[in-house]
Amino acid sequence: MCGIIGYIGNKQAAPLLLQGLRRLEYRGYDSAGLVVTDNNIFDSVKSVGKIDSLAEKLKQREMKGHIGIAHTRWATHGGVTIENAHPHFSADGSIAMVHNGIVENYRELKGFLGDVSYKSETDSEVLVNLIARFYEGDLRTAVEKALQKVRGTYGIVVMHKDNADCLIAARMGSPLVIGIGDGEYYLASDATPLLAHTNQVVFLNDGEIAEVCRSGIQTYNLKNEQIVKCVEQIDWDDAKAEKQGYDHFMLKEIHDQPTVYEDAIRGRIDLEDGTAHLGGLNMTPEQMNKVDRIILIACGTASYAAMIGKYAFERLAGIPTEVDVASEFRYRDPIINENTLVFGISQSGETADTLAALREAKRKGAFIRGIVNVVGSTIARETDGGTYIHAGPELAVASTKAYTNMAAILLLYALQFGRSRRLSIATGQRICKALLEIPEKMGKVLEQKDKIKEIALKYKDYKNCFFLGRGVNYPVAREGALKLKEISYIHSESYPGGELKHGPIALLSAGFPVIAIITKNQLYDKMWSNLEEVKARGARVLAITTEGDEKVKELADDVIYVPETMELVEPILNTVPLQLLAYYVAVSLNRDVDRPRNLAKSVTVE
Ligand code: G6P
Repeated sequence: MCGIIGYIGNKQAAPLLLQGLRRLEYRGYDSAGLVVTDNNIFDSVKSVGKIDSLAEKLKQREMKGHIGIAHTRWATHGGVTIENAHPHFSADGSIAMVHNGIVENYRELKGFLGDVSYKSETDSEVLVNLIARFYEGDLRTAVEKALQKVRGTYGIVVMHKDNADCLIAARMGSPLVIGIGDGEYYLASDATPLLAHTNQVVFLNDGEIAEVCRSGIQTYNLKNEQIVKCVEQIDWDDAKAEKQGYDHFMLKEIHDQPTVYEDAIRGRIDLEDGTAHLGGLNMTPEQMNKVDRIILIACGTASYAAMIGKYAFERLAGIPTEVDVASEFRYRDPIINENTLVFGISQSGETADTLAALREAKRKGAFIRGIVNVVGSTIARETDGGTYIHAGPELAVASTKAYTNMAAILLLYALQFGRSRRLSIATGQRICKALLEIPEKMGKVLEQKDKIKEIALKYKDYKNCFFLGRGVNYPVAREGALKLKEISYIHSESYPGGELKHGPIALLSAGFPVIAIITKNQLYDKMWSNLEEVKARGARVLAITTEGDEKVKELADDVIYVPETMELVEPILNTVPLQLLAYYVAVSLNRDVDRPRNLAKSVTVE
């Protein structure tokens, strides 16, 4: 949830750490802090609020030191206060630490430590004191001994005030990446803040400790055995993590969609054979043919992309497919056998619930595969195959382009399975064609942004709102409602059109806003009847419909048109106007669009 960053090199650390924190702010943003060391003295600064307030404090003072660590927090243990903000220090002031994760047995460890005076309410402060307790001149050994006693999750970077040559980093369940620059090293929770400096990285695995010194990196396990790590190259480009003239990352990422969608499908569509080739699936044709059940596991927006996948797998491949919210999957008794294929779908590749659910599925003998955006992330590395969605860095907390690309990859998988089973070449080719036409059609939706902005102004003052969709457009309704509530804080609910009359319709009264996806597909007439029902109660209807549908104006007060495409492919297009609608509503309400309250982009705690 939190973001951590460390630097060791020849430059002044504080400005680099601040720059890194800005890139990590999407991981948590209720408080932040940093510490550098120079001449055996720690100099630290903390602030409550977003990184800007830390930056303000830094303007008022010069912090000298070529080594330092920093943190942006999303509170789990203890309220949002300066005292609870990281870095935390050992009681004797000699060791500083930033931590992402949860020390589950911190009470027990507090008992072990006895009489220590704590400044904060955090589990992290207990951990840094535990490290200090074991310190006898070698920081790595102290960290190793302390971690042997810890139960829980951590990504930590630790620094001793008397050692300006080394940082110690360790991970268990919370990601940590080391960037190798020119005579300098960066450590961070993910690769985004490293991109400005290097594309050479080392990913730490669970249970590993790295000693990152000016002279080089050494990696060990918790039993003090040395481990040889590979340096990997990341092909994400730093420019893709910039706003590029847009007011917000979210707007920029909405506009990225036609391009990154092309990145997702490039080289993966075979128009001639009407199929897709996703080599990363890593299954033999025999294994593919034996798959009799697919389970799609995800959280949040990724779970709505998964719902689109369910329709596609069932319709194209005839394979029974379930979508499970990861936090629920873990705690029921899913029926899984060696012919079950489980996909974990995740932008960050670090979502704790999704990861844990995949591990559970693996334990039960399923094939587990990842559909992930962040290269080198834990889900990407722990699954036995899968596909990167190539959406590039997504920095707005509210996911947009990752959702589109997840849906695209799921459609490709469904096509690949479909063609190896019952799907005809002609239908396969029609789907390929429809998929290839998406970027141009998406462009047409994006061109309507001014009109959508005008419509947004009409809906911004409502306190409640319903989104309705049927069939493939039900996930679109879910995602539309999620986007609106996440960034504008307007209470939004989504229902399958036919379900409204079984309860929620009781809430409708004159002028209640209903946003309906009613495109020209097999369920158009059914959706029409549902809209008649809401209109009869005086609701105000905004319809998302297919270009050329004039009739819909009989029911709708406002209309946004989307180009026609094949039904299964529709959700990819139909979600885009709802992303823009949510964006413009939030902007008009002066919300912090990229960093909505209480949310974090990457949820690495259960
Ligand atoms: C958080 C984010 C959502 C995201 C969800 C799943 O809740 O705020 O935007 O959809 O996590 O994240 P993932 O990285 O697994 O796709």
